[in-house]
Amino acid sequence: MHLLIPAAGSGSRMKAGKNKLLINLNGESILYWTLKSVFLSKKVSWVGIIGQPHDRSEIMNSIKEFSDKINWINGGNTRQESVRNGVNNLPNNAMKVLIHDGARCLIKPELIDKCFTELEENDAVILAVKVTDTIKVVNENRIIKETPDRNFLWAAQTPQGFLVTQLKKAHQKAKENSWNVTDDASLFERLQWPVKIIEGNSTNIKITSPIDLKIASLFLGNSLV
Ligand code: C5P
Repeated sequence: MHLLIPAAGSGSRMKAGKNKLLINLNGESILYWTLKSVFLSKKVSWVGIIGQPHDRSEIMNSIKEFSDKINWINGGNTRQESVRNGVNNLPNNAMKVLIHDGARCLIKPELIDKCFTELEENDAVILAVKVTDTIKVVNENRIIKETPDRNFLWAAQTPQGFLVTQLKKAHQKAKENSWNVTDDASLFERLQWPVKIIEGNSTNIKITSPIDLKIASLFLGNSLV
């Protein structure tokens, strides 16, 4: 099955001065570890990396081990634009696709396989975990407006998987209507298309800030992926 990896961010919150996926983590780039898990999945047959053209040689150099199994697609200015480019450049035989952020390098291969299996029965699925903190909705002055019932709150992760025809349509609609979202499932929600949640694992963090590197380093060192 087909899998796309958005890897075209600038990593401004990491303050590394370069694409955070190129940062060294336990001897390899962050993106290397993501791909290591992806290629341990039994169901992945085609992988596209969505990256910025100016990062291409450095990225490919950091993932040499997989270079003959990788298809390159140019990314855009936002994650949404990057994924749209990715989906529009899938091979014609791609019926369903998983999107997995390059920054989630602790993903377990079994969870990637679980997403593919669930995608056989559903048109849209995402990995998510139950929220353990009590979440507050605030106004612009950080005054609390509301505390939603935690029993209905899940934190979205990736992989997120979709029927390719629907995902293309959703991204096209988003472009036409200037919707700006931070994950692909949000587009399906706006169109009132159902998305099924698959329970994931809280170690599947997205590397965002310097502290996440320390956490990921520990998990990788303990072979928890
Ligand atoms: O910035 P953040 O970590 O939320 O981005 C999530 C994923 O989307 C990352 O793997 C990042 O490389 C990717 N991305 C992208 N194109 C952009 C911005 C982010 O592919 N323009």
